[in-house]
Amino acid sequence: MNYKPTTLAARAGEHAKETPSRPLVEPIYQNTVFAFDDLDHMEEVFSEQTPSNGGIYYRFNTPNHLTLEGALAALEKTEDAVCAASGMAAIAAAFQAVLGQGDHLIADQQAYGGTYTLLTQELPRWGIEVTLLDITDLEAVERAITPRTRLIHLESLTNPLMTTVNLPALIEMAHAKGVLVSVDNTFATPALFRPAEHGADLVSHSLSKYLSGHSNALGGALAGRKDLISQARMRLIRQGATLSAFDAWITLQGLKTLGLRMRAHTQNAQAVADVLSNHPRVAAVYHPGLSDHPQFDLAGDLFPDGFGGMLSFELRGDLNAFIRRLHGKIPLAPSLADVNTTLSYPWTTSHRSLDEKRKLELGIRPTLLRLSVGIEDIEDILNDLEDALNL
Ligand SMILES: Cc1ncc(COP(=O)(O)O)c(C=O)c1O
Repeated sequence: MNYKPTTLAARAGEHAKETPSRPLVEPIYQNTVFAFDDLDHMEEVFSEQTPSNGGIYYRFNTPNHLTLEGALAALEKTEDAVCAASGMAAIAAAFQAVLGQGDHLIADQQAYGGTYTLLTQELPRWGIEVTLLDITDLEAVERAITPRTRLIHLESLTNPLMTTVNLPALIEMAHAKGVLVSVDNTFATPALFRPAEHGADLVSHSLSKYLSGHSNALGGALAGRKDLISQARMRLIRQGATLSAFDAWITLQGLKTLGLRMRAHTQNAQAVADVLSNHPRVAAVYHPGLSDHPQFDLAGDLFPDGFGGMLSFELRGDLNAFIRRLHGKIPLAPSLADVNTTLSYPWTTSHRSLDEKRKLELGIRPTLLRLSVGIEDIEDILNDLEDALNL
């Protein structure tokens, strides 16, 4: 057809090429929409007579989303998984999948500051009552359950103090009372811990951390029972909290090395915890692999492959001088889980929105530093830290 240049240009590339062979790595689907042959064809896909495989509209999902969701469900050993725009969007979707107006939620007061703020500032606006308590006190949790309690939320390893809980016992008690349990597994990752194996109903992740692994993607995910995930999926789509296809794709690339990275993070963090706990400038180290940690035995049973790369410690003396001595080596960066070691300051970052009194009650002190131990050579990490400590 003898189309004009404007038309030829506007329609260039409309037909995706099919190659006789398949790409070894899934390409990015950066298109917002897919085209159908006619109304019948479109209806067939919308009504799910033919699976869309991510081929309708980006806000619902793309093939990249479905590939990532399949990988995460396999890793977490759950029936299904759904991706979200961020870890916070995934946690909010977990709450929305289970809770409605008038319901009651119990959560660990040691939750990540962003989660703490969602629980205390937003959920009450949705008509949901929240009780925050020490989740390790199972009797207190049992006493707090009311006929309106629908969900208990906690982190498998808490941010930043690295506490854990007897999850099998907690879940058994919760289920006996008809209460579901949702576990944020961001710090541990399914390489080290799979909450669903202990009966957890929902498992949330910030993909922005270890699952992508290189501080170059923002995302979240929720894994769990099919009926719960489909509730969460519906709410994420309706609210438009969709993960970007690029971030899904980048996360898929990062995920390939998860096992190797977590092994290296775990070994390095254990070595750093051992050294810091014997250093005169360090007042306390929070890492469950230390024999004087109050949860050493429980954590060892629950996490036979170790605890990943996170630890926190209290520093004696000038924090800023220590941080400046690490310039160009271990950066101060308010995130975690990168392949290079980074340092963060919970007092003014992750827990910024809590008032001082509450932070102190929770053990988040102005002397507390959080270290995300990377996969560099352990000698170099230790030398850098010791140089900065030995002022
Ligand atoms: C344990 C934990 N859960 C959830 C989140 C939120 O993740 P995102 O920043 O991807 O929303 C974070 C962020 O630091 C976190 O540490």
